Amino acid sequence: MVGSQQTVPFDYVIFGATGDLTMRKLLPSLYNQLRLGHIPKDARIIGTARSSHTREEFIELAQQALERFVPDVNKRDSVVRHFLDKLDYVQLDGTDSNSNWTELREKLDQSPPDRVRVFYYSTAPQLFGAISENLSKHNLITEQSRVVLEKPIGTDSKTANEINESVCRFFDEHQIYRIDHYLGKETVQNIMALRFANPVINAIWSHEYIQSIQITAAETVGVEGRAGYYDKSGALRDMIQNHLLQILSFCAMEEPDVLDADAIRNAKLAVLTSLRPITGEAVRTETLRAQYTKGGIGDLPVSGYLEELGKPSNTETYAALRAYVDTPRWKGVPFYIRTLKRSKLKVSEVVITFKKRRHGLFDDHPRANKLVIRIQPDEGVDLTLNAKDPSSSGFTFQQLNLGSNFGTTDGSTIPDSYERLMLDVVRENPTLFIRRDEVEAAWKWVEPILNAWAENQVPMEHYVAGTRGPTAAKAFIHKTGDYWHENMQS
Ligand code: BG6
Repeated sequence: MVGSQQTVPFDYVIFGATGDLTMRKLLPSLYNQLRLGHIPKDARIIGTARSSHTREEFIELAQQALERFVPDVNKRDSVVRHFLDKLDYVQLDGTDSNSNWTELREKLDQSPPDRVRVFYYSTAPQLFGAISENLSKHNLITEQSRVVLEKPIGTDSKTANEINESVCRFFDEHQIYRIDHYLGKETVQNIMALRFANPVINAIWSHEYIQSIQITAAETVGVEGRAGYYDKSGALRDMIQNHLLQILSFCAMEEPDVLDADAIRNAKLAVLTSLRPITGEAVRTETLRAQYTKGGIGDLPVSGYLEELGKPSNTETYAALRAYVDTPRWKGVPFYIRTLKRSKLKVSEVVITFKKRRHGLFDDHPRANKLVIRIQPDEGVDLTLNAKDPSSSGFTFQQLNLGSNFGTTDGSTIPDSYERLMLDVVRENPTLFIRRDEVEAAWKWVEPILNAWAENQVPMEHYVAGTRGPTAAKAFIHKTGDYWHENMQS
């Protein structure tokens, strides 16, 4: 994967430039990369949106966003000024071919014709096709153009295919970057490093030694201002179809022959297509869904999902699945995947529970070894071992926790996931982006579950906001002899 060198000059055109994602993530990420010296002098960022703003007004909005979303330690007045200078704005309805395309073209024409051009679609996915068509109609797609598609790519296989087709008519697959911001998280990438650069881990990475793998993404936030989107989506579509299945793929994949984008994506695809389908009766036994009810996070009282929404809903804010990867390496190993909103804690982690040793000297006592890969917060790893308790004369055991954080070697902070990904597009490095066949395979696998849930074949459980999920979760995982990792239990 590419290091953190400076990129070639580029023009970044953001559709949906006044939206929440642009303000919260995209502009702060580009700012930070500029601060670190990774963005060349003459790079430009052109925001477009339907709302009427002058360049100065857009700059003002951007400045407020940096003020709010860039951590104080990274704020430098001179860099902020330099960053704001790079910004421009064009009022444009991306779906209307008679909109202000000429102005956008005039601005882009100020750069040399071979300048890297990135079109970032931070809009509703239904608009991707129309924007692409208009870019093409107005001759804005050059050889050096790339397009970034934000999730969700569809709500099922059919709609995903329609969205992909609508963009593929105007861009070649190598120009299309489907973003999954979890792949920009350092610790997700570190799963590969931990597995393949450590013989001690690599040697035991199979059903022979691994009892189960748990992948959790728990958030304290609810649906915030996104209830309209979320209620049509739900936890399975919003988090599992993309982020968590990607993490599962990194955990389960075979070692790629080389460190290149296609080899890695082929290896992930092989996992996605080896997932045992959850269909028929299995949907009832291998899946769990729930909604949060009124509760509290810390001292803060929070409303239940339905109260927030203001109407009845059959959308889950919690989902847990038991998945199996049908390959020789993973024979019989359950992968538990769970995600929830309004959890007590914000924590994303992968927990590998190893099999207990049988028929050894100490086989009646100690606990299973565990490797915990902390994706966020406190990025790092923990390994638990059994050790003799020195205070006892016999073999009484205690658990040793060997933990370490993934600090950077130069003392810098771990970059936000978007920072890395936004510049990988400029560098033409698609390794951490999702290929079309991966999106399709993931939808194919989750679709039977979504359909069964839509038909209410699985009851909707409930959990109090500020807890770790429904009480049924315990029995769900017990069925295969496991426990949820204690970080979420405590
Ligand atoms: C997004 C989901 O993709 O990921 C959100 O749409 C969720 O619902 C977010 O809150 C979680 O991202 P992170 O980086 O905060 O774990």
